[in-house]
This record gives sequence, C-alpha cells and structure tokens, in this order.
Amino acid sequence: MALQSTGDLFRPTDPAFLADPYPTYARLRREAPIARFEGWKAWIVTRHRDVDRLLRDRRLGRVMDEVPAPSAFPAFAAIQAGSLLEIEGAAHDRVRQVVHEAFTPRHVRALEARVVTLVDSLVDGLEARPERAADLLTDFAEPLPVTVIADLLGVPQADRGGLLPWSKAIIGMFEPERTPDMERAAERASAEFAAAIRRRIDAVRLVPADDLITRMVRAHDEDSARLREGEIVANAILFLNAGHEAVVNVIGNGMLALLRHPEQLDAVRGDPGLVAGAVEEMMRFDTPLQFFERLVLEDMTYEGHEWSRGTKLCLFYASANHDPEVFDEPTRFDVRRSKNPHLAFGLGVHYCIGAPLARIEVAAAVRALLERLPDLRLLTSEPAYEPRNVFRYLRELRVAY
Ligand code: HEM
Repeated sequence: MALQSTGDLFRPTDPAFLADPYPTYARLRREAPIARFEGWKAWIVTRHRDVDRLLRDRRLGRVMDEVPAPSAFPAFAAIQAGSLLEIEGAAHDRVRQVVHEAFTPRHVRALEARVVTLVDSLVDGLEARPERAADLLTDFAEPLPVTVIADLLGVPQADRGGLLPWSKAIIGMFEPERTPDMERAAERASAEFAAAIRRRIDAVRLVPADDLITRMVRAHDEDSARLREGEIVANAILFLNAGHEAVVNVIGNGMLALLRHPEQLDAVRGDPGLVAGAVEEMMRFDTPLQFFERLVLEDMTYEGHEWSRGTKLCLFYASANHDPEVFDEPTRFDVRRSKNPHLAFGLGVHYCIGAPLARIEVAAAVRALLERLPDLRLLTSEPAYEPRNVFRYLRELRVAY
C-alpha cells in the first residue's frame, strides 16, 4: 500500500539530498509515488506515468485566477502576470501564437551558424589561457546561451551585464525554501529588469530592429488585444531567463556526467552521430529543472486522491526521468539509449517553447568541446551543487584541457 504522506522520505534541505536527490526519488516512486509533503503544503508526484498524465490534464494549471491577487512583491508579480508560463487558456494561446514563429525549428536552424561561431570563439578563449584550466560554467556555459538569447531578443550590449544577476535573483522566487533576502533580491531585480526592457521597447518604437522585442511591439501596436504592453515586458524577461538558465545547467550537469564516463565520452568523440543522443541523455540523467508546480483548477479525483481547487502539486520531471518503468537501467548514463522519452522540457500546453534552440546550443557546445579539447578532464571529483530544489546547478565545474 503506497504511503499518502512523504513522512521522513523527503527532506529537501538535507545536504545529502541536495548532493544527490536520485536515491530519494527512487524510494518515493516505490513507496509514496503521490504523497503529501506538509513542509510545502503540496503533493509530491514522482512516477513518469503520473507526471506525464498530469502535465496533459487541463484540470491543472499554473495559475487559478486571471487577475492575480495583490502581492507583497509588486514588481515580481507584474513580470509574472502576463508571462506565458503563468497564464492559461485563451490568453496563453493568444500570446504563444504571437511569439511562436521565433522559436520554430525552421527559424532556429537559421541561427545555428551564429551559435557555432559563438561556441568556437568561446573555445578559442579557453584555448588561449596559458594555465589550460577554467570553470566551464562561467567561462563557457553561461556566456553562450546568454549571448544567443540576448541577440534573439535584441538586448543592447550595455544591458547584457545585468542579465545573469537579474535572472539568478528572479528564479530564486520559484524555490520553495527561499529566504526573505532571496525575495527582496528577486523584487529588486524584477524592477530593474523591467525598466531595462521598457527602455528597449521605447527604442525599437523609434528604430525598429529585426528581433523578437520589435516583433512583439509591432504585434501590440497593430492590435493591442493581441498582446498587451505588460505582456511584452513579462515575456521578454521570461525568454531571457528561461532561455539561458536551463541551458547553462544542461551543459554543466551534462558535461560533468560525460567527463565521469570516459568510455561514453570517447564514443561521442569518435562518432559525431552520437551527439544528438548524448544531448538527450544529458538532459535526462541530471535534469536541470527538477520539478515544476501545478495548481488544481477544479475539484478533481486522480488515482483515488481527491483534490480540491487550489491544491498544489509538485511534478518531479527529474524523478520521472529515472523511472525504471520507462527507462532501462535509469541510473546508467548511456548516450546510445534508444528509447528516451524524458520530460526535461515538460509536456502539454507549457511544453518548452525553446526546446529546438536549446538542442542546437547544447549540441554545438558538446561537439566543439570534445573536438577541440581532446585532453578535457575534471579538476574536482565531487563538484558541489547550489542548495536549491527547482534549479539543479553546479556552483562551478573546474576543468583542465
Ligand atoms: C535545455 C534547456 C531547457 C530546458 C531543460 C527547459 C525546460 C523547460 C521546462 C521544463 C518548461 C516547462 C515548465 C512547466 O512545466 O511549467 C519550459 C518552459 C518554457 N521554456 Fe524552456 N527549457 C530550456 C531552454 C529554453 C530556451 C532556450 C528557451 C528560449 C526562450 C526557453 C523558454 C521557455 C518558455 C518561454 C517556457 C514557457 C512556455 C509556456 O508556458 O508556454 N527554454 N522549459
């Protein structure tokens, strides 16, 4: 009989859990696959089949009311209010339609050459270091997606320095274990970030450019019912944040996995045809966004659980990605895995709009690092992760080459 409560099984602040959450997920899947965790006043869902089904279930969503309640963090609330990730139904369809074209596989393939050039110049930078050592996160994994997404949106060079610190502060607000300091930092960052985007909106109204902010401004100016002004700001910030945070972490967590499995590394180096599979396996093996929340929008019953409107669920994509019912030997890192229906990009209406772009960026990164740095190796055997539950990211990834 499955447990209804996580009891002692789930201790999200325990350093051992933060270092390696996967054994805990395995026990939860076996003993308490859908279980209440009072600490977060939420249900923790860990099996692939449940995460998959619940992500497609329209009785669940990210927000309950179209008009959000007054918030103690008005600047943060304002940038959430119209963001794709935080709207449902017709409003979500309307906004997604305006921006969809910028992220189609056809459109992002046109960016591939630029991504490859950028990756090459970053590897040039690594090669030029006399010490032949670097932090793969700050010296490579961060500048790549930040530059790609800032180019796509059209963020001026002068504002780019703010992107990483603003984004890091804002995503702190998604962590269930956040502190008041993290909340204040997120609020301040939201206000500064929104002001920078508004300046850019004013600038492209005077001198339009070939970028996504201009596209959104044009859609609004032609018909403000298609896209509201606040939605331009909210989504520009969402794209800039979502567009790099997870990519940094796939490169970081994924390269760590590759470097810890030298036979897999050699296989990919010897056969570029394996890169695409390696990228999927990197996302499955140590999933950058471990879970996302959903709210019950109307009273519902699921697998014997009766959930009233407003009930909170935490859907653990990272655990689903290690479910032995779906993945053979899930703890094995295997770039040749033939069946890999991982949920690292989510599923359903909020499925990651940036998935095609992310795949291009990570593949280009893996290809260049393996081809051009044949001696690439880890300098730390046990790299440490930030003490966070949603975003799984390394503090640093020291390598030599
Ligand atoms: C490997 C890198 C990436 C991963 C693992 C990832 C993961 C995810 C996940 C799990 C979701 C769904 C969240 C939910 O279920 O509530 C999501 C949504 C989203 N992602 Fe990504 N993402 C990545 C890269 C990107 C990139 C490059 C962009 C570029 C803009 C992006 C933009 C978005 C947006 C806008 C949404 C919200 C879509 C909606 O609600 O309609 N992501 N992403």
